[in-house]
Amino acid sequence: MCCAADGIEAVRAELVEPFLAAGWAVGVTATPTAYRWLTALGAVRPIEELTGLPLRHVPRLPGEDKPHPVPDGYLVAPATANTVAKLALGIADNQALTQLCEGLGGGLPVVVAPRVNAAHAGHPAWDGHLRTLRGAGVTVVTDPAWAAVRAAVGDLGSGTGR
Ligand SMILES: Cc1cc2nc3c(=O)[nH]c(=O)nc-3n(C[C@H](O)[C@H](O)[C@H](O)COP(=O)(O)O)c2cc1C
Repeated sequence: MCCAADGIEAVRAELVEPFLAAGWAVGVTATPTAYRWLTALGAVRPIEELTGLPLRHVPRLPGEDKPHPVPDGYLVAPATANTVAKLALGIADNQALTQLCEGLGGGLPVVVAPRVNAAHAGHPAWDGHLRTLRGAGVTVVTDPAWAAVRAAVGDLGSGTGR
């Protein structure tokens, strides 16, 4: 899951490519704003070509097949303050949040790597949102380094072929 936050330009090189190289199957879903940013960066097609899957950003129509395989878990990176707050509250008003809310409620592993500035982190509800997510079993990665984000997902070297 990809949000409209600083670092979005590095998602392909720092997340998609390393996970694919480690043997994972990767499907990327972006928030509507993140999709606009990825489009402006010219990053949508390269990510789709690498993953072999459409980059999801809008809900499917009733009756349409799901364009991604059933996931084993979700990584939200970079995660905005907005998406973190909505996920903690169970708000599913876009495709990324719909998948995340269902995944969290359904017991899938979820890793969230927030990229927020001090002002967002200073919002009175921020700490409560993180507590809610951690209490639900979500791994929150506070280290902004991409290596730390990858490590939180699991042993990339194992190539488990997910
Ligand atoms: C240039 C720019 C950089 C931004 N960087 C961040 C960021 O690093 N973290 C964040 O939480 N919001 C950031 N924002 C604000 C989000 O893009 C905004 O809250 C947006 O509504 C988030 O939408 P999403 O959560 O659906 O992706 C930034 C906005 C702009 C214009």
